[in-house]
Amino acid sequence: MALPGSECYKRGVTVTIVGLKPVIITNENKDTVMNIRSRLEVMEHLCPWLEEKMETLLRPVEALWQPTDFLPDMARESGHDELVALQKEAAALPDDVLSVLVGDTVTEEALPTYAYWLACIEGISEAGAAPRSPWAVWNRAWCAEENRHGDVLSRYLVLSGRVNMREVDVVINNLIYDGMDIQTGRDPYRFFVYTSFQELATNRSHRNVGNLAKSVGAETLTKMSGVIAGDEGWHARAYRTFVEKFLEIDTDEAVLAIADLFKKQIKMPAMNMREAGVERGVTFKVFEALAQRIKVYTAQDYLEILAFLVDHWKIPALTGLSTEAEKAQEFICGLPDRYRKLLARTRIPTAEELPATFRWLTPAVAG
Ligand SMILES: [Fe+2]
Ligand SMILES: [Fe+2]
Repeated sequence: MALPGSECYKRGVTVTIVGLKPVIITNENKDTVMNIRSRLEVMEHLCPWLEEKMETLLRPVEALWQPTDFLPDMARESGHDELVALQKEAAALPDDVLSVLVGDTVTEEALPTYAYWLACIEGISEAGAAPRSPWAVWNRAWCAEENRHGDVLSRYLVLSGRVNMREVDVVINNLIYDGMDIQTGRDPYRFFVYTSFQELATNRSHRNVGNLAKSVGAETLTKMSGVIAGDEGWHARAYRTFVEKFLEIDTDEAVLAIADLFKKQIKMPAMNMREAGVERGVTFKVFEALAQRIKVYTAQDYLEILAFLVDHWKIPALTGLSTEAEKAQEFICGLPDRYRKLLARTRIPTAEELPATFRWLTPAVAG
């Protein structure tokens, strides 16, 4: 659909869009330029909508929880007793749960990578030049809210006394250094489809860690996991809403973007996780298999999230699509069933096949 201020895109014609330099569309650049320019238009078109919607998507900072709300306050007299209680509950966590908690913490701590990726997305980056643009506001607010997750988890691990934090720090350092490729490029459609999925995945992961913590009486970790999961669910809702708007005003392109990303599969942001001395992604494979074995995040979760989003965005009910988008729609609608069949044939590596041995469980060397 053509938006106000735009002109039709035609090959070999100079196109002028409000606020952008004219671009000559040629055979060589047509796909990139047409795609990106129209995405930019949509993002700019949505600014007033997002501005109005913002107060339902963001909560005031004063109303947010902070890491210190859950952890011993060493500035108070009761701090030492609180620390003893925390270490007592952490001692009850099985090694496997602790290791998955470390993997989740590392994933959260690689926030600089995600913040950078988000800032590079078309429409966000352009909007970033104007500090009060609603997309820039969203970017900063999301980062600020997410920042609490890695902080609270990391501090819990330090205080627990059960983990070699230097090894954990090396994994975080490596992960930020290695970056990620979630295959969205700079496309806001693909990126917000990705985040709609990913926030639901982390919601499940933290919720399930919380349930495991509860089962051994680890109260602090149960509460922390609950509030983090709540944030992830909240963010997922915002990202789903962005995609709803893309589907509403640029239906064909949004459907094509969803199909493309689902075809490539949603890659986990910590895909490159590695401990010291191993190849990129090796530690992630071990962590991923362990998370499946203890049911923190499984292939069944992947399938359920996918099916939920297809249904939520009402993909099967979309009409009036282009021939290409219709094919993409058919592909998307068939995916949950394809995954169901695949799931029946998938086997999780056993602990013997892929042992969950991590350097972070090695006790720290004194001195
Ligand atoms: Fe998070
Ligand atoms: Fe998140």
